[in-house]
Amino acid sequence: MTGKRSIVVTPALPYANGPIHIGHLVEHSMTDFWVRFQRMRGHKVHFVCAADTHGTPIMMNAKKLGVTPSSLVEKFRLEQIETFKKFDIDFDHYGSTNSETNQKISNRIFTALEEKGMVEKKTLMQSYCETDKMFLPDRYVKGTCPKCGAVDQYGDGCEVCGTVYSASDLKNPHCAVCGKVPVEKPSEHLYVKLEDYRPFLKEWVPKHTTPEVAKKLAEWFDGELQSWCISRDDPYFGFEIPGHAKKYYYVWFDAPIGYLAALDESLKGKGFESVWNDPKTEIYHCIGKDIVYHHALFWPSMLKTAELATPTGIWVHGMLQVNGAKMSKSRGTSVFASTFHKHMDPVYLRYYLACKISSSIDDIDLNFDDFVSRVNSDLIGKITNVASRGAQMLAKMGGSMGQLSAEGHDLVAKAQELGHEVAQHYEDRDYAKAMIAIRSIADDANKYFDKYEPWKLVKSDEDGTRQILTGILNLFRIMAIYLKPVMPSYALKVEALFDEAPYQWESSKIILEHHKLAAFEHLLKRVEAAQVEKIIEETKEIHAANAPAVDPEKALGIAPMINIDDFQKLDLRVARIAAASHVEGASKLLQLTLDLGNGVKRNVFSGIKSTYKPEDLVGKLTVMVANLAPRKMKFGISEGMVLASGDGSELALLFPDVNAKPGQRIS
Ligand code: MSP
Ligand code: ZN
Repeated sequence: MTGKRSIVVTPALPYANGPIHIGHLVEHSMTDFWVRFQRMRGHKVHFVCAADTHGTPIMMNAKKLGVTPSSLVEKFRLEQIETFKKFDIDFDHYGSTNSETNQKISNRIFTALEEKGMVEKKTLMQSYCETDKMFLPDRYVKGTCPKCGAVDQYGDGCEVCGTVYSASDLKNPHCAVCGKVPVEKPSEHLYVKLEDYRPFLKEWVPKHTTPEVAKKLAEWFDGELQSWCISRDDPYFGFEIPGHAKKYYYVWFDAPIGYLAALDESLKGKGFESVWNDPKTEIYHCIGKDIVYHHALFWPSMLKTAELATPTGIWVHGMLQVNGAKMSKSRGTSVFASTFHKHMDPVYLRYYLACKISSSIDDIDLNFDDFVSRVNSDLIGKITNVASRGAQMLAKMGGSMGQLSAEGHDLVAKAQELGHEVAQHYEDRDYAKAMIAIRSIADDANKYFDKYEPWKLVKSDEDGTRQILTGILNLFRIMAIYLKPVMPSYALKVEALFDEAPYQWESSKIILEHHKLAAFEHLLKRVEAAQVEKIIEETKEIHAANAPAVDPEKALGIAPMINIDDFQKLDLRVARIAAASHVEGASKLLQLTLDLGNGVKRNVFSGIKSTYKPEDLVGKLTVMVANLAPRKMKFGISEGMVLASGDGSELALLFPDVNAKPGQRIS
């Protein structure tokens, strides 16, 4: 090892618009594995994260709940902190992008961009809702896909045919909040001229991502790098841009700056630059492949302009799938971390994820059947059981380890030697390979155990048995040390069993002989399929309970949008009910004579008999459709229609105000 490293590590900042789910846990766990590994090696790691708080969805959500956006994001931030703690994800600090620190650093970076001429102004036409008094982000406009005609599609792309477009391309656009037709309005915005960074980025990207990612990203440089819009109009939950009244930083502008702010806050007054800009410091961001653009293009450009260090590496991972498919609310596989925790010790998930995660961007599948069988066969069957049996046998013999045999010594030396390989896998974030290597020690231990059958040997040869068990327990101890970055809670129990100080990586170099064990405490139980079922069932219930509120518009079943011309085809008039009578043989109908003034009269049959007596209606004003083509009915011709609400059993006729005059048009 060459000296002490100074490292900053961050996962992406989860949106403070909801709870942490198992998808987030992939990223946060794998980052935590790496951090714990480095700390065990004696390096200084600043492990920071924050809640990503700004933007329209959070603002709208707060509005719907009748709370302020700041209180909503703070509530989720505190919840996120609790959740990560439960999963042993050990941040130095978990900040908020809605902090003064973040505002200060954001302003500083923006000013640098502006002063160096990297910001340009452009006016663009944007959908605006006159009712909600706001510009609508693409996700907030819905309408008909211009390509395939699918209705009810978002303004950023069609979920049916996959075409990507912007809201202004939609046919029959309407505001996703209130349903009204938006207007197009000009607005001036601030853009970062990304194309100006081309030479820098073209060189930077391949050096700071894996070859796999760099290859994918190379195609970005084929065309022009589009300028990046970093401002949003009022109302917006975010920071107002200095010198640009009523304009706010786009959430993705101040989000990565949250890394700096969180680091700054964790350093308690020393200032983030003391670490960030120290040339010895390594900086790593671990992110999902959905947000590479922001981290590999925008972020280094911002940092460079502000004369701040750019990251040493961007680690990109694939998406978590569950049972081979995208996480699903209805199938109960979109599991919140808190639900998982309620029914299962998080250590199982950490172990399983470690078995599945490598440094590639392939998606990661959490198959619950495989999860149960792998945890039980490997973690319990291979790794834990042999140690439990050994420790329990030794306890019966007084609890003291003996000396290793020559064979035991060789096995322990081999396991110690393997530490180099395991460490390299951790360093490379190839956790799956690290787990395979560690399991090979378990295989050796189990073979050794089965070969000497200590459960039989103990009857005739106590010293020999003690020798075997000493070998087994040393092998187990080394595994626990190697597993500690992934399973810290497990390692804690093993430290207690051997009555030792917290393990460092180097602890594996020690051999325990003539060492007294503490009283045996159970290490880990088998995982039961029933626990998984509970998680899935509860997840389904949670999402079902939340579902109806999502789209009140749909629940109302409002008919497809029409435009004003469509509406004007309808001729609605005030009419006086001149006469009303029962209809022979009709159970639901009344016959009405409607007077439109000017001597114009209409005969209309209406299904209102269950609600109104003819004599109560005569002389009243009502509303009719005057240009409905006459329809021949069983009892005669109906020349129009009166307007009433209700479902057929209980109807309510529309009565205009007393000032209305027969024949007046309703518009
Ligand atoms: N707030 C932004 C990140 C800003 S970073 C300056 C964001 N938030 S997020 O909550 O949507 O996602 C946070 C991280 O979790 C991202 O890296 C994302 O890729 C990751 N994951 C979210 N869902 C995931 C899966 N289903 N599987 C794996 N990772 C997932 O993006
Ligand atoms: Zn609206």
